[in-house]
Amino acid sequence: MAQLLFEGSVGPAARQVPPTRLPFSLTGLLSGVGQWTFRPGVERSRPETPRGKVLCVVGTRPEAIKMAPVILALRQQPGIDCRVLATAQHRQMLDQVLDFFHITPDIDLDLMRPNQNLAELTSRLMSTLDGVLAEEAPDVVLAQGDTTTVMTVALACFYRRIPFGHVEAGLRTGDMDNPFPEEANRVIASRLARWHFAPTAGSRDNLLKEGVPADDVYVTGNTVIDALLATAARPDARLPVAIAEDRPLVLVTAHRRENFGEPFRQICRAVEKLARAYPGTAFLYPVHPNPNVRDVAHRMLGDLRNVFLCPPMDYAPFVAAMKRAHFIISDSGGVQEEAPALGKPVLVLRDETERPEAVEEGVVKLVGPHCDAIVEQARRLMDDPAAYRSMARGVSPYGDGKASARIVEVIAQHLHAKRGVGATDRIAPAGALC
Ligand code: UD1
Ligand code: UDP
Repeated sequence: MAQLLFEGSVGPAARQVPPTRLPFSLTGLLSGVGQWTFRPGVERSRPETPRGKVLCVVGTRPEAIKMAPVILALRQQPGIDCRVLATAQHRQMLDQVLDFFHITPDIDLDLMRPNQNLAELTSRLMSTLDGVLAEEAPDVVLAQGDTTTVMTVALACFYRRIPFGHVEAGLRTGDMDNPFPEEANRVIASRLARWHFAPTAGSRDNLLKEGVPADDVYVTGNTVIDALLATAARPDARLPVAIAEDRPLVLVTAHRRENFGEPFRQICRAVEKLARAYPGTAFLYPVHPNPNVRDVAHRMLGDLRNVFLCPPMDYAPFVAAMKRAHFIISDSGGVQEEAPALGKPVLVLRDETERPEAVEEGVVKLVGPHCDAIVEQARRLMDDPAAYRSMARGVSPYGDGKASARIVEVIAQHLHAKRGVGATDRIAPAGALC
């Protein structure tokens, strides 16, 4: 049987079936960044007697957002020496997130190059990671998602015989070209992982179909919801541009490689048409710094008075913008997971998604990178209140805000079994991170 932590089988936090609909109970989540706290009664280990070393690897913005709750939770665990390795596949966008969560990498490989291509990036990662793993000699390595960083970390761990835990495992479209190259990265990581932390029952089923042993799969929820709820519970951060409170706001993001070229121009054309058709609406678009995206977006949209292009936003203002938005137009994986939990409809600029749960709930719609379809569905959300209401329901198919605690419990139990614990080295229960 696969481990159903999310549905309640292991550990004190997992015994209750988590609520899946808003309103969430936000109490007890992070009350402030960097303030993950212990419940009274949980003892800390003596720092000089760590039970095991866990190396958490992050490369890009979404990995940092989704690993931050895991890193902060690991740091609360008695006897675990949690180290953070930044490959810096992204530079500025990674730093933005790490700063926000007050995480300073122990090792920073600083690998990003302007307009990097996949083969160069992969080879820089592979050749560098092996030396770090040899030097660090971690008991466990954790990484999240589907980037080149994750795929290479999984392979480097395999070569060094170091057990690798894959956070956000089992997402699939079944199409190696969509998303490219992320589908392949996920398949490779799954072949090599020791633990698979699946966000949903659907992602667990994908893994089981591929022959992953059920005992190695844990349904935990997605850690992005941990980060989101904690951030959303804080006072809203200011947006990077002043937009009157009562002015309707549409939030736009786009960055996928398979959309480069004509698909991305279609996306920009759609935003332009909508901006001209709805001059009273503000279109806020934090532009991804990839030159294939940034240059085209500025060329096609830069002159429109109600399109506000800005650099990538810090996480807190971006969460505030999602809360403020009427709806969101995006090809982002993370946004597809976050927006439903905030009750915000998303038009997804892709023809397929490895996150079908929100589509099935009817709160996310696939419109592809096709100008006419984007405009048609956006007009519906603008002009048809019933259609809008049907998509603006608060549902959270991707988690309940406790995924990181469940993941940490699995790892702590593994280390406990491997090394044993001393009198003061009690494992903090998963529910302790409140
Ligand atoms: C990467 C991931 C993608 C993920 C996305 C999140 C791969 C193959 N792609 O795509 O899965 O959804 O991150 O955003 O792993 N750049 C900067 N500063 C930054 C970040 C990027 O200038 O902080 C520019 C650089 O020119 C860089 C380029 O963007 O070379 C591309 O970065 P890269 O990580 O290769 O691809 P993304 O499109 O960001
Ligand atoms: N995000 C952010 N600032 C922005 C745009 C997005 O902090 O300007 C956050 C967003 O909330 C989500 C994550 O970045 O958690 C998604 O990252 P991205 O879209 O780059 O990657 P993907 O999720 O598609 O891999």
